[in-house]
Amino acid sequence: MTLRIRTFEEYEAVYQESVENPEAFWAAQADTFFWRKKWSKVLEWDFRKPDIKWFLGGKMNITENCLDRHLKTRGDQVAILWEPNDPGEAAKTFTYRELHAEVCRMAHVLKKHGIQKGDRICFYMPMIPELAIGLLACARIGAIHSVVFAGFSAHALADRINDATCKMVICADGNYRGNKSIPVKEVVDIALQNTPSIESVLVAQRTGQEVHWQSGRDFWLHEEMKTASESCEAEEMDSEDMLFILYTSGSTGKPKGVVHSCGGYMVYTAYSFKNVFQYDEGDVYWCTADIGWITGHSYIVYGPLLAGATTVMFEGVPTYPDAGRFWEICEKHQVNQFYTAPTAIRALQAQGDRHVTPHDLSKLKVLGTVGEPINTEAWEWYHRLVGKNKLPIVDTWWQTETGGIMISPLAGITWLKPTYATLPLPGIQPCLVNADGVELTENNVEGLLCIKFPWPSILRTTYGDHERCRLTYFSHFEDMYFTGDGARRDENGLYRIIGRVDDVINVSGHRMGTAEVENAINEHPQVVESAVVGFPHKIKGQGIYAFVICTEAPADDEAFRKEVRQVVTEEIGPIAKPDKIQIVSGLPKTRSGKIMRRILRKIADGTADSLGDVSTLLDPAVVEEIRAGVL
Ligand code: PRX
Repeated sequence: MTLRIRTFEEYEAVYQESVENPEAFWAAQADTFFWRKKWSKVLEWDFRKPDIKWFLGGKMNITENCLDRHLKTRGDQVAILWEPNDPGEAAKTFTYRELHAEVCRMAHVLKKHGIQKGDRICFYMPMIPELAIGLLACARIGAIHSVVFAGFSAHALADRINDATCKMVICADGNYRGNKSIPVKEVVDIALQNTPSIESVLVAQRTGQEVHWQSGRDFWLHEEMKTASESCEAEEMDSEDMLFILYTSGSTGKPKGVVHSCGGYMVYTAYSFKNVFQYDEGDVYWCTADIGWITGHSYIVYGPLLAGATTVMFEGVPTYPDAGRFWEICEKHQVNQFYTAPTAIRALQAQGDRHVTPHDLSKLKVLGTVGEPINTEAWEWYHRLVGKNKLPIVDTWWQTETGGIMISPLAGITWLKPTYATLPLPGIQPCLVNADGVELTENNVEGLLCIKFPWPSILRTTYGDHERCRLTYFSHFEDMYFTGDGARRDENGLYRIIGRVDDVINVSGHRMGTAEVENAINEHPQVVESAVVGFPHKIKGQGIYAFVICTEAPADDEAFRKEVRQVVTEEIGPIAKPDKIQIVSGLPKTRSGKIMRRILRKIADGTADSLGDVSTLLDPAVVEEIRAGVL
């Protein structure tokens, strides 16, 4: 079985070992899985290229480790426990045996539609079991999944389909979210007007709503599944074969497809899941993320299933039918480990304690957070009200690119400190550097967070553009992976993540490139130029503040703002809508034409009293004008 650290002393010893002899450490972790053929070399790496390979020559299939391996020992244990949007609808369970059968059937459906090893399949789906089954079905036959969060617009979906030249889309007719029903298939239909690589669409039936049908292209998944066989030999994959692509935002306009490979991702997600959450046999674990993001990939689907866990998958939202829904589900399914985002905690905290207190949360053992820095008030509320002042909170820092949790307490084993992600997992070697790339070796410092040594689930490339991967992560500092985050290390060596130091903002735990939002705003015919920055937001963590220059002053400012929000919704999706839109006559620029975002950030967060050095500004008067009109 995968290593499970149980004491602080053990953590310290294992950490030391993992740094002194990383290859032996990771080989021991990898040894606990089923490999069709064992690797011949543990690691080969060169961060300068970057070229990173783990478990070279190893042959395996991740689904044999998620499913087949468990059939003898826990075939009748629940693997996925699905809770629907509407509490009146019955929850659904899939035992490991049932899940195995469903995955095999779906794998046959994919094959029947001409899908082969290496083909890309795009998922645009609600949180229904078919999504998890679909990912595993791809992995079973060696197809590469690319999940697009179902809140993205048709335009954003088409871009991602085209970037990965996907052959198939898997979607649903509609999506229940709270008291809304969202027309998923309709969005796909619009996207597919501009996606030449798509040959077929599989549609899961969820809402039963009317959908447009293109015969020869569209197929009902449940119809196709009816005749499919329940057994399907898994494709033999090389450890370094691609497992999936997941698009994420960066400093530049275009989202990039982060690529993860089979062997390393398998080893790391299982290892980190077990250790961070201290999952015990028979526990019920629930991560509230959407599978459209990395958290859902690694800690709803792959990590828990690799570890033989019971993983809860929730279709709905935290506030439907009321703000007690999370706690109602924890009580109903006797959840032991609960993992959510600070933004959800803040939103629920704002609704008051009365939604939490009536529920029996006595089965909870571990609480977790992910995706953004957690503020002290939210941490304390979570600890006091949900954790009854005794449960450990694992504040897990990681990224789409890291594949798994990198810095986090191990629940109940290592130290906790509110708002601190604390210590690296064994095998992870973080460091802080200054702007010149000099490592800050002492404690009680702040710097740029980098990782000095590869770990098995590090991204291998960005799909179709390896140079972009090199430039973004490996070119800033020699021989280091640069995370894009700033962090503090306290006197005891504990890390606190401060936030992004690049042009990425984090809105409700969703990563957004400011350039991406600006490009969308600029699509409005009346917009000449725009600049987007984040500003502190009580619930979302960061809100989106847009400064916009128009061709001429709008007749009605509010109507104009509404139109801009509509354009952004169409270009990216509602999650990227600016909270504030200030119409300005100019932007603070340097003499070379670069927008000084530092100044805009200070104006947006109300700290413009100390603007620092503005001597390079082309037109200082514009700053005064913007400051006077701040929203
Ligand atoms: O800025 C960090 C923040 O989220 C970024 C990664 O976003 P994404 O790739 O979408 O993955 C989110 C889920 C893993 C990071 O660069 N972030 C993530 N976790 C934390 C965090 N910031 C502070 N504390 C965390 N625990």
